[in-house]
Amino acid sequence: MSKQDALRWNSRYKNEPYYIQGHQLPCSLLLENINLLPKDGFILDIAMGAGRNAVFLHQKGFSVIGIDVAFEAIVHSKINAPDLRVFVADLTEYYLSTTKFFSVILNFYYLNRNLISEFARLLKPGGLVFFETLTMPIRSIKPEISEEYLLDEGELPRIFEAWEILYYREGWVDGNNGKKKSIASLIARLPR
Ligand SMILES: C[S@@+](CC[C@H](N)C(=O)[O-])C[C@H]1O[C@@H](n2cnc3c(N)ncnc32)[C@H](O)[C@@H]1O
Repeated sequence: MSKQDALRWNSRYKNEPYYIQGHQLPCSLLLENINLLPKDGFILDIAMGAGRNAVFLHQKGFSVIGIDVAFEAIVHSKINAPDLRVFVADLTEYYLSTTKFFSVILNFYYLNRNLISEFARLLKPGGLVFFETLTMPIRSIKPEISEEYLLDEGELPRIFEAWEILYYREGWVDGNNGKKKSIASLIARLPR
């Protein structure tokens, strides 16, 4: 990601109310499966945005660490959760050195295939990944989204084929802007 992309995301959070107001509620994949989260250990929310998931879990008493490249998004998360642990970093360049540290990784609406290959190192054995993001069919209605940021059909379970897949779904759903979106959602457990 170039510096320009960071500027673009900061500008969105600052000037386009949808990026904050349209993302207030936690993702349903998380809400509906919150019982899977261990009570102890750290949850890493990568590209956390304004913190709809991180703030929600923090308020529920979980220990969450959030990362995002957009300072404007991080600032917003601190309004709702002043003592949430957050930091600004470009995840295409930043090296997370904490091996076997996290109990859970949240990856919502961000796709960085190089980083996914680090998940098994970052997680403790038996750790969980919650993953949800847009898939290629979205280009039929939003051709401007670069293929680089979209999952191919069936890609997510292929990436996690060596893991225990606890949940997987792929297809069209209603988005929070009232429009349909094509997504893949997965929960997987790292083998012990
Ligand atoms: C569509 S938003 C999703 C935010 C959040 N995960 C959610 O679901 O509400 C994508 C997020 O990825 C962040 N992002 C994009 N590129 C990034 C990078 N290289 N490093 C860290 N964060 C990045 C953006 O700032 C933005 O907050």
